[in-house]
Formats: sequence, C-alpha cells, structure tokens
Amino acid sequence: MSTGSPSSLASTKRRLTHVASHLRTPKLKVVVCRDLGPNVMPLLRDRPEIDLVVWPEDKPCERPWLLENIRGAAGVLVMLSDKVNQELIDAAGPSLKVASTMSVGYEHVDLPVVAKAGVRIGYTPDVLTDAVADLTVMLALMASRNGGEAVSLVQSGGWPSFSWSPFGLCGPQISASPFSPKRTVGFLGFGRIAQATLARLVPFGITHCLFTSNPSSTADPAFEAAIAAKYGVQVRRVGLDELARESDVLVVLAPGGARTHHVVNEEVLRKMKKTAVLVNTARGTVVDSDALARALREGWIWGAGLDVVEGEPNVTADHPLVKEPRAVVLPHLGSATIETRLGMATLAAKNLLGGLGLEEGMPAELDVKSRA
Ligand code: GLV
Repeated sequence: MSTGSPSSLASTKRRLTHVASHLRTPKLKVVVCRDLGPNVMPLLRDRPEIDLVVWPEDKPCERPWLLENIRGAAGVLVMLSDKVNQELIDAAGPSLKVASTMSVGYEHVDLPVVAKAGVRIGYTPDVLTDAVADLTVMLALMASRNGGEAVSLVQSGGWPSFSWSPFGLCGPQISASPFSPKRTVGFLGFGRIAQATLARLVPFGITHCLFTSNPSSTADPAFEAAIAAKYGVQVRRVGLDELARESDVLVVLAPGGARTHHVVNEEVLRKMKKTAVLVNTARGTVVDSDALARALREGWIWGAGLDVVEGEPNVTADHPLVKEPRAVVLPHLGSATIETRLGMATLAAKNLLGGLGLEEGMPAELDVKSRA
C-alpha cells in the first residue's frame, strides 16, 4: 500500500493547516434563501469557514424566517423575491458584508440603503443573455403567428371544426417577404440582451433596427455605426414616438423601477402599427397592463408576447391580459434553461464567496454607488 509521495503529503499537511486555522477563527454565518441544487451547493457547503443556513423548503423563502436567521450573518444569497432593504440590513446587524442575488435585475435591492450600510451586492449579468434572447424571439414568433390562440384551439378539441382556409389563423410574418420587404425591430432599452436578440432576428430578414435608451445617456453615432456594420442592418437611436410608429416588433428590454414605470402606455400603444407585436422580456412594470389589454381587444396592435406582467406572480386566469387570445403570457421564464440557471447559481455562489473574502474578488459586483 502506498503511503503517498512527499509532495502529496506536504499538500495534505498544508490543507489540514489551512482547515485548522479556520477552525480556530469563528465561522462566517451565511444564509441562502433557496437550495441551489447538487451541482452548486457544494461550493458553499464544502467551505469549512462557513456556517451555512439554508431555507429548507422548495418555495420562496418566508420573510420572518429570513429576518430571524440573518441575525449575525456575514453574507446572504437571495432571489428576486427577497427584498434587500433597511429591514433586512437591520435584522442582520453590522456583520453583513455581502448580499448576492441570483438575478441580473436588482429592483429588490434598495441601493441607497445598501450603499450607506457598505454592503456589497453581487448579481448575475451576461450568463443569462442568450437564454433571454432566445425566449424573446420565441415570444415574437408566438405573438405574431397566433401561437397562444392556436395551441388553445387544439387543446380544447377545436381542431376538427377548424378547417384549413387560405387566411385562417394567419398573422404578420417576421421574416422579410416580397409583400413586406422592410422589417423593423424596435428595442426599448438596448443593452446586452437586446443586441443578442437583434443578432438572432437578423437572419429572419430584419432590415432596420431602432432603439431608445436611457434618456440621460448621450447619442453615440459611432456605436450605431458599429452595430450596423456588425449585423448588416440600418440602426438608429430614436425617440419613443418613432419607435412606436415604425416597429413591426417592439421589444421591451429596459430595466424596471420608477424611471420606466408604464413607459408603454395607451399613448404609445395607440401609435403602433395594427400589425405590430409587443414583446416584454424585461419587467412587467414597464407596460401598463390595462392599456395593453385594451390595445389587443380593440385591435390597436396585433399581439403581445409577455414573459413578465406587473404584479407577478399574482397573475390569475381572470387577469385582463391572460384573457386576451392574442396575448401569449409566460410565468417569467426568460433565463429558465438548465445551463443558464446553473451558470447563474454558480455565479451567485462565487459572488458571495468573493464578497466574504474567501475567494479573490467578486466576479460580478454591482456598482452600487453609481446607481444609488
Ligand atoms: C430575471 O428576471 C433576472 O433578473 O435575473
């Protein structure tokens, strides 16, 4: 039986010394608001420096449990549904160093409060860009090709009485055609996910890309020229009015929050083409749901593909948008691929470890000060 080489004995000794030194120092309490599964939990569970407390149920973490368990914690890993606010910071006490959210959005984080408390925030940009862009294209197609209505027709047993007819269940085509050679996609918000969506739509024959972005950012013709050259389409930054009037597919990819609340309202919807579709894969609050339901009911626009709805998850079968046959509504699945959720959970765990000083740096730290 081998007793091990001198170098492996030395490395075992080093590891034991490392573990022993951590056993002497008090452990860091870390609260995790949702089990991250067998691939990711070991990143936290196997750390001897951590005293891990995990919400034990397979449903959103209950607030009283979190407030009680976070006392004295150095780190917390939260979901979109867990508010990181003064109440949480007070419950944790001065030990709290980092809050890591398994999301790219951070509306649930009170930025001025965490900035003041000096709590670092980790989030998960980039890893979900492709999954959300894929779903955006899926919703654009579903909304324009009457996907929701057609699936319900089949599921309700209506296919035998729906006979094929030259224009039955037809919708506007996203791809360019001799009848509609100019196809315009408009983006409300033109960050990473919007650009990844554009990349996917270009092969459909999209010829023009319009976008509006943060009104406080300055126009940059070089940026537009670079995007135009990259994708071979015309690209222009425009105002909301032109975006509404010109888009065949209008995609909402702006962040939520007070600044974008109900930007897509009755006035905007009334300006859109009757054959246009609205897709929202960002935040439900950007769109006025009542105005959109009316726009669909009265035919101001063709259809809507919504992965997010204001007030979610409390969107029931009698919600005005769910009742609209031309609205395809999904329960916030943008990043829901196995690969992407693994990527997000891993990044959230690494941000947490980095914020606790157990690994070098946080791979994706939110610049809280500039956004507070
Ligand atoms: C999803 O909406 C996210 O913010 O990650």
